[in-house]
Amino acid sequence: MSPGAAPLRSIEALRVEGRHVFVRADLNVPLRGTAIADDSRIRASRRTLDWLRERGARVVLASHLGRPKGERRPELSLAPVADALGLPLAEDCVGAAAEKAVARLAEGDAVLLENLRFHAGEERNDSSFVAALARLADVYVNDAFGTAHRAHASTEGLARATPERAAGFLMQLEVEMLSRLRDEPEHPYVCILGGAKVSDKLAVIEALAERADTLCIGGAMAYTFMLARGESAGLSRVEPGLVDTARRLLDGETEILLPLDHVVAPALDRPGEARTVEEIPSDAIALDIGPRSIEQIAGRVRKAGTIFWNGPLGLFETPPFDEGSRAIAEACAASGAFSVVGGGDSLAAVAAAGVGERISHLSTGGGASLEYLEGRALPGVKALEAEA
Ligand code: 3PG
Repeated sequence: MSPGAAPLRSIEALRVEGRHVFVRADLNVPLRGTAIADDSRIRASRRTLDWLRERGARVVLASHLGRPKGERRPELSLAPVADALGLPLAEDCVGAAAEKAVARLAEGDAVLLENLRFHAGEERNDSSFVAALARLADVYVNDAFGTAHRAHASTEGLARATPERAAGFLMQLEVEMLSRLRDEPEHPYVCILGGAKVSDKLAVIEALAERADTLCIGGAMAYTFMLARGESAGLSRVEPGLVDTARRLLDGETEILLPLDHVVAPALDRPGEARTVEEIPSDAIALDIGPRSIEQIAGRVRKAGTIFWNGPLGLFETPPFDEGSRAIAEACAASGAFSVVGGGDSLAAVAAAGVGERISHLSTGGGASLEYLEGRALPGVKALEAEA
């Protein structure tokens, strides 16, 4: 734990044997139909579950999946996740079905509750929904770092309503790794930020511009910055309302690197016509960074003491526009720096490049890790602090 981070209550201090322990995990995995496209969040949740079960706890596991907005949507059932975990699924997360499933648990058993967000009370942090969840267990463990930026019933209300509460192993690890970035990065500190919109990342860009030595901007949001620098963006997606903000950031102290070359195509659905250019033609969309840009970022990464990467550098889901992100994954892995990668597509790029083992920390938090690095207090983490 770094000096700036308040200590969290640890799962290891809890008395769990024979007791019902509510575990809030983030099992919000990407699905293709009913198939799990990426099971990293499921794998990351195992340590806490195994630890509790080995100690004879009766584990009541809960998560959200997607954004059903208080409606029971069958395609957002946690059934595929229960299968992957080898656990039974209670057909609801509160009420008779949940209480019956919980009452049946023997020591060392676990049950997964159905999607918390099938109830509107979850996102509203509604006190009656908190009370319904509280009936299921005596002890509370939060391992859902990926959802810690949401003050929802299962991440905040229930934590505060349960005196015996603590952070699970994943939550502790995430906070430890990200607080190292936030509070004591070894310099040079290089941040690589990609993704579609400047507006989504503006707060984190501003915060990181205060702390990092170099910000490398890629993905579609780079083109708003290029416009601010007076360069052409062709048909690439830009946010004209943010050009002035981008200009102010470019004029600041921190080095901001923009792409030097681009992989362009006439349209998103014409990847077969992709070509690399230095200046984006007026009738083309830039969809990935080119080799000179890759080398520019790789050069900073080689010399970095700390690296943080969030967001794809191109249209990652459509080859060949995944090449920039893969190359950056390889560069981060080859560096001796303390490296943290977060966000779905950047993690997918790391997995596709087969270099996950050589990244110091693969964060399960997308939005949560960005808010943490912005310096904002995450309600799900706050509720677990020793003094809370
Ligand atoms: C995520 O995937 O970022 C978390 O599970 C939070 O999901 P949400 O953005 O729907 O709250």
